[in-house]
Amino acid sequence: MAVRYNEERKIFRLDTDKSTYLMGLTPEGYLGHIYYGDRLFKRVDNYMLRMEEAPFTPSVNKREKSAFLDSFPMEYPTGGIGDFRESCLNVRNEAGQMGCEIHYVTHEIYKGKKPLKGLPASFGTDDEVETLDITCEDPVLGLQVILSYSVFEKENVITRSVRLHNTGSQHLKIEKVYSACLDMDNEDFEMLTLQGAWARERHIQQGKIRYGKQMVSSVRGESSHQQQPFFALITPGTSQQQGKVYGMHFVYSGNFIGQAELSQFDSVRAVMGINQEEFCWNLKEDQEFQAPEVVMVYSSEGLGQMTRSYHDFYRNHMIRSKYNHKKRPILINNWEATYFDFDTEKLLDIAREAKACGIEMLVMDDGWFGVRNNDDCSLGDWKVNTDKITGGLKHLVDEVNKIGLDFGIWFEPEMVSPDSELYRNHPEWAIQIQGREAAQSRQQYVLDLSRRDVLDYVYESVASILRSANIVYVKWDMNRCLCDLGSAYLEKEQQQELFHRYVLGVYELQERLVTEFPDLLLENCSSGGARFDPGMLYYSPQIWCSDDTDAIERLSIQEGTALVYPLSTMGAHVSDCPNHSVGRVTPFETRGHVALTGTFGYELDITKIPQEDRKMIPDQTRMYHKYHELIREGDYYRIASYSENHLYDCWAAASKDKKEVLVTYVQVLGRPNVHSRRLFLQGFDPEGVYLLEGTQEKYTGEMLMKCGFLIRDFTGDFKSRLYHFMKAE
Ligand code: DGJ
Repeated sequence: MAVRYNEERKIFRLDTDKSTYLMGLTPEGYLGHIYYGDRLFKRVDNYMLRMEEAPFTPSVNKREKSAFLDSFPMEYPTGGIGDFRESCLNVRNEAGQMGCEIHYVTHEIYKGKKPLKGLPASFGTDDEVETLDITCEDPVLGLQVILSYSVFEKENVITRSVRLHNTGSQHLKIEKVYSACLDMDNEDFEMLTLQGAWARERHIQQGKIRYGKQMVSSVRGESSHQQQPFFALITPGTSQQQGKVYGMHFVYSGNFIGQAELSQFDSVRAVMGINQEEFCWNLKEDQEFQAPEVVMVYSSEGLGQMTRSYHDFYRNHMIRSKYNHKKRPILINNWEATYFDFDTEKLLDIAREAKACGIEMLVMDDGWFGVRNNDDCSLGDWKVNTDKITGGLKHLVDEVNKIGLDFGIWFEPEMVSPDSELYRNHPEWAIQIQGREAAQSRQQYVLDLSRRDVLDYVYESVASILRSANIVYVKWDMNRCLCDLGSAYLEKEQQQELFHRYVLGVYELQERLVTEFPDLLLENCSSGGARFDPGMLYYSPQIWCSDDTDAIERLSIQEGTALVYPLSTMGAHVSDCPNHSVGRVTPFETRGHVALTGTFGYELDITKIPQEDRKMIPDQTRMYHKYHELIREGDYYRIASYSENHLYDCWAAASKDKKEVLVTYVQVLGRPNVHSRRLFLQGFDPEGVYLLEGTQEKYTGEMLMKCGFLIRDFTGDFKSRLYHFMKAE
């Protein structure tokens, strides 16, 4: 049993294979956090709630209620009543006053997990997950707060979400509703986050937490290039293999906050949820609000163990696509090959050459619709431009299919260009503030997805194209942030619901898409990786990682991304040099090895690249066929980080049975006059003996991991090598 309640001691206990989570009730019914950490096996107690120390619980000493609330490790703190640390729930009553206090009422424990209405969320069978719903109540407001905890024992994951139900007769305003809180004593924690910008997403950053609040957040309407809805609290000295790690990851694609607050009493309150900026939800009588899910992982074996928990969890319990455990087609995308300058003949030329090299799918990117010959028009006008796509889309797709390739297509469904038929006919469909000129970004506006008519138009635009030809893949792009928030459709009091309603609209569109087209391979994208989040994974098994396809910049991007996301989700392509983002020239082989760690594909004009590069593609596609399963399904180990040592990078994919390990080594900068480099490999069976492919060399797993492996005979910059080890029978 993963979830238990001890009636006598009033303790809730959640156990995964390697962790335990405890909560307890005070005599008044406050729900407090007792413990999260290594798995406990014996009896548990609630003394960590410190109810025997002053300030005593309010039922013992009413005078000290606010002092109690300001230090008690509250499981789900509410605002306005005397806990002055960050609250998770702020509610304003009909009289305009903000205050909410909740107490335990009842709970339910059941096998399995219920879906979250309108939101992406993890799932599992009755054998895989057990759920605890704790119902708390504020009788003054007439508000029920249902805290849900789902325990995935095998993956060492606990997910949390919150549902509000207005059971009273007041019109309530929910000004803040976070999804999870973790109140713990400080252990000198450091905060690890994923920071970035366009073309350099998700770089790992780490620093000691200080008194006060430190956070990651987005107010851009998307999860963003700049900050990932993830953070981990880690103990000093944490490495890949040791140290305590508490990870929190938000299953949401809009504005978020993830924050750690070090208090006066050296406790840390970690919270995660929808950002309260420009958020206010009207909750009328009998209405419900569902807050999104947070995925929590605890590891006492360093970051590597946390990473593998997240990878297993997302592959087993978040990605629904039938491609999740299947080989992805090797695609060639024409974006960096042609940008907007292409036609049917050009695409067919690329397709013919691609086929000859073992590539399996052609993806037609931006520029095929309206009169879009550059990026200043036509978004919203999803009609094929037959001046470019001569003979029409079906003709093109059929011809590509005849060549022997599948066909995929690009959309940016959420947007409208001011220069478009759609905007001329429906200016009120764009998000704008009345009387204020809305800011354009990439010459485009954002459609108001809180409107049913807009949702239906957008969906039909995409679906009718997909129905018209044999299209098996869609790249769903989104190329600007949201600002000038205003809806011509929503009531005045609902305007602050727009950010969240927009995200719900995106989810509804993608839900409809994958329901009508269950065989479609969907790849989400947002100017590269601005919406690389677990919410998107629920709809698409892969997400475009970054517009930066440079093999060296990708080392940091992919390292940060793979900290929490399975390699199978990382869109990665080989592109041409000098690289279009940084102007760097790297060997074609290195570009192939780095892209192999993701979904693998090409983004170049195969009819124009140098012959020596072109000649390497058949070998690279064979390499993908050889390793795709290992990379997609295996365990990922981070062995050395170029962002830390500034010289070289190394990672490994190991099969679950440890029979096979593929080590990728990239030497970013060579050094003169050095010995061979020793690397402590990981992912091997210590008892096993392994043969290194292409040699007669045999190694024990134990020596590779404890004594190390030598990288020999390696000179030059930006060079890479694969080392493939097979267990000798
Ligand atoms: C941004 C994407 O990240 C690119 O890959 C490409 O699809 C462009 N948009 C097209 O406008």
